[in-house]
Amino acid sequence: MKHTRIAILGSGTGSNALALMNHFDGHATIQTTLLISNKETCGALPAANSKNIVTAVLTNAAIEDNQSLLKLLKQHAIDIVVLAGFLRKIPDAVVQAFPDRIINIHPSILPDFGGKGMYGARVHQAVIEAHKKSSGITIHVVNEHYDEGHYIAQFFVPVTASDDASSLERKIRTLEQRYFPTVVEGYINSLTD
Ligand code: GAR
Repeated sequence: MKHTRIAILGSGTGSNALALMNHFDGHATIQTTLLISNKETCGALPAANSKNIVTAVLTNAAIEDNQSLLKLLKQHAIDIVVLAGFLRKIPDAVVQAFPDRIINIHPSILPDFGGKGMYGARVHQAVIEAHKKSSGITIHVVNEHYDEGHYIAQFFVPVTASDDASSLERKIRTLEQRYFPTVVEGYINSLTD
């Protein structure tokens, strides 16, 4: 069976990146090869180092220059890129070099509460302010437009009258931990070449 090399991109606390790395630890055919961040403080960097996963920190300028990120992915013969709380837009050249091979997780039921500037706690605050009765996560393929690639899976949670942005975030993080790694694995296994 074909071996798949993943690059994970993260920016924040790194809980999704960590869940992915743990899930694929010792996996027979899927390997986390590279962890890339635009922040020295990304919470997943120490864990990646301790697992002997190659890490790289790129400046935002380097990520946006259409070359540096692509070069790094090619250097490490990456097959699949997973955005795990990565908050910068992926350059078009990278999207075009990895058609249907870049996966993102978004902490709402897209197309609601997606698009430029909608990430992390801002999404949960917007859901609460809109008095929504449910929210959830969307795992989708990345195209050239923010949060618009085709959906791989969506999972819902109820939003109750007593929820605020923090309690909703906790519910969403629970969903992310439960489903993201297995959905990524299933998607990779569904690819035919
Ligand atoms: C996660 O909730 C993820 O869904 C969200 O940022 C958080 C990162 O947490 N992503 C977005 O908002 C993308 N638009 P983490 O650093 O602990 O994985």
